[in-house]
Amino acid sequence: MLCIPYLTYICKHNFNDLDMGYNLLKGKKGIIFGALNDKSIAWKVAEKAYEEGAEFTLSNTPVACRMGEVIELSKKCNAELIPADATKIDDLEEVYKKSMEVLGGKIDFVLHSIGMSLNVRKKRVYHDLDYNYLQKTLDISAISFHKVMQVGFKLDAISEGGSVLALSYVAAQRTLYGYNDMADAKALLESIARSFGYIFGRERKVRVNTISQSPTPTTAGSGVKGIDGLMDFSDRMSPLGNASAEECANYCVVMFSDFTSKVTMQNLYHDGGFSSMGMSMRAMTQYNKSFENEDVSTKY
Ligand SMILES: NC(=O)c1ccc[n+]([C@@H]2O[C@H](COP(=O)([O-])OP(=O)(O)OC[C@H]3O[C@@H](n4cnc5c(N)ncnc54)[C@H](O)[C@@H]3O)[C@@H](O)[C@H]2O)c1
Repeated sequence: MLCIPYLTYICKHNFNDLDMGYNLLKGKKGIIFGALNDKSIAWKVAEKAYEEGAEFTLSNTPVACRMGEVIELSKKCNAELIPADATKIDDLEEVYKKSMEVLGGKIDFVLHSIGMSLNVRKKRVYHDLDYNYLQKTLDISAISFHKVMQVGFKLDAISEGGSVLALSYVAAQRTLYGYNDMADAKALLESIARSFGYIFGRERKVRVNTISQSPTPTTAGSGVKGIDGLMDFSDRMSPLGNASAEECANYCVVMFSDFTSKVTMQNLYHDGGFSSMGMSMRAMTQYNKSFENEDVSTKY
């Protein structure tokens, strides 16, 4: 029979293990792009990766680094903060070189958590796009992912078995009112993941994937027209409900770990089941409420 002090020891030990994480990323070195504030998905990924034993650098635009809360995160995670506009090759080269210098070797994981549309910000609708803004949307939200990989590839900065991830949204496959030109950016982003994933896998044994995340209340997310309605709808449609930023961070950590070493060129849905649904009971109930004073049976 186990004595009480020994049981106390086991419980304490196990709870401490949970607090400390599982060391899934022990010894791994990474770069995390896109943590702006504590709502950002990248912020949660940084916290989780730190908890799981990774060492990494953080990068965001010079203005976000100067003004943002990301300095606080860099202190908390003991991570060097390297300003970079992810659309600029020189800046990205600096991120890799500085990261390899401070972390002492090649990079094992990269998170691209970057997105921005001026058309969305300036409330230009999809049938009245500003094409200069569209170019910027595509460059910032999709082509920057290619740049992040091309620079890493040319500098031979990513180690064998490494994992590169970007964050996507189901608007790449389906039309969702209000998502605007970001839908096109996400479609391109996912295509880049496949195209570069083939080359990175073949040449360097590096895997490349996108995670298609539920709508999430972040700075980027809140710019989307009707985001509250969209979040409620997608929550009602998903058997498991919307996935939170923390849950997304858990998935990212698994994708950086050695437990997913043969997963590549995939768009991985992390959306509580939304992408496989057509209509749910919860969504139908809410939808029917809008007809309460109307006789719908005469319509069809
Ligand atoms: N929030 C959602 O509903 C949701 C859902 C699915 C996917 N995503 C994707 O997740 C990613 C992260 O977004 P988030 O929701 O955490 O919002 P966020 O606003 O916290 O993050 C977006 C980041 O992009 C950075 N950024 C913008 N322009 C940049 C540039 N030129 N160079 C470098 N960085 C730049 C911003 O500074 C910010 O840190 C984005 O790709 C977004 O499209 C978000």
